[in-house]
Amino acid sequence: MARGGNLRQVVLTSSEEAWSRAASELPETRPIELSVIVPTLNERDNVPVLLARLDEVLSGTTWEVIFVDDDSVDGTAEAVRKVATTDRRVRCLQRIGRRGLASACIEGMLASAAPYLAVIDADMQHDETLLAQMLDVLKRDEADLVIGSRYVERGGVGDWSRSRKMVSRIAGRMSRMVMKAEVSDPMSGFFMLRREVFDGAARKLSGIGFKILLDILTSSSGPVRISELPYRFGTRHAGESKLDATVAWEYVMMLLDKMIGHIVPVRFLVFSLIGLLGLGVHLAVLATAFQGGGLGFGLSQAIATFVAMTNNFVLNNVLTYRDRRLRGWALLAGLLSFYLVCSVGALANVGIASYVYGAQEPWWIAGIAGAIIGAVWNYTVSSVYTWRKPKAS
Ligand code: GDD
Ligand code: MN
Repeated sequence: MARGGNLRQVVLTSSEEAWSRAASELPETRPIELSVIVPTLNERDNVPVLLARLDEVLSGTTWEVIFVDDDSVDGTAEAVRKVATTDRRVRCLQRIGRRGLASACIEGMLASAAPYLAVIDADMQHDETLLAQMLDVLKRDEADLVIGSRYVERGGVGDWSRSRKMVSRIAGRMSRMVMKAEVSDPMSGFFMLRREVFDGAARKLSGIGFKILLDILTSSSGPVRISELPYRFGTRHAGESKLDATVAWEYVMMLLDKMIGHIVPVRFLVFSLIGLLGLGVHLAVLATAFQGGGLGFGLSQAIATFVAMTNNFVLNNVLTYRDRRLRGWALLAGLLSFYLVCSVGALANVGIASYVYGAQEPWWIAGIAGAIIGAVWNYTVSSVYTWRKPKAS
């Protein structure tokens, strides 16, 4: 028993010691001022370089950096965590089973408590030396949001190809459809803002695709004072760009979402437009088989139905559900489930239309009612069974 008593004593003493030691060694007691959010997808070799640069340019403030990594296969998250074990300014927020530059930035900002938030790419294409100046502008209360801009005087896009310049210009013009503010570079992925601006927009953000700044600008609740600082878009340090056809399409989806997302979900809109196109395909095939090919009407209609369903499936797979695109065997299984879903949808369509027609409504109202019910059914059920939300792997 005496031994046990001694042991207890020892444990108490050592934990008290540990506590006071820990308190005296707290590395940072000044309040945090700035969180730098860095979205990453396979940027391992850029992590140490960016950290060294941030350390250099942010020496005048208390800052932290949050890497939001979408489960990179090159070990980006591990590289960040390795530094984070000894440097508390560094954190890694790893997301599994999800993708997206904008949504990554949003979650990074939500994970921060700092009064000022910055977003910067990991690949050194953005000029990190601007960060201190951006912070100054905000702290002097000259603006609520500072954008690193390629399109104001002394800014530039660097050695971009002609086609990329053109795409950027077109995308910029399209953004004017949804944006009120006059901003020269709403597509910039490099900016800093007051946390209240983000908080005011947070619940309205679409989070789709690449363009987080445009998302914030179009979701802000009150007036936002904007300042733009010029910088030249540099060349990527290590790794590869992720900008591709998907990014371009997601941009269109995001604009649509901003324009009509409050009325109907943008996916449903795209799904319905594809359905309308499918009707055209159906009629074309029917005409070809029945009138041109001399097949019986029933057979022609069956062929047309299959072609139209397959057409709709393929288009929905690459457009509506691009982020959950099915490939390989999953594509075949998805196609079969889509046939099944649409067959039931067609039955529902005919059933509802007949019912409405039986209730003395004009034929075209009955037809439209059936088509809407069929479309909603197809959309809802296929979103659950055909294009399932990806499970965390
Ligand atoms: N977490 C996460 N998830 N990060 C991503 C994803 C993603 O799905 N896609 C890209 N990133 C990260 C990259 O790792 C990189 O750090 C940053 O986002 C930008 O990706 P890049 O592939 O380098 O894009 P870019 O150079 O073509 O375009 C960038 O600069 C433009 C000009 O400022 C982006 O920031 C554009 O939004 C911006 O318009
Ligand atoms: Mn880049």
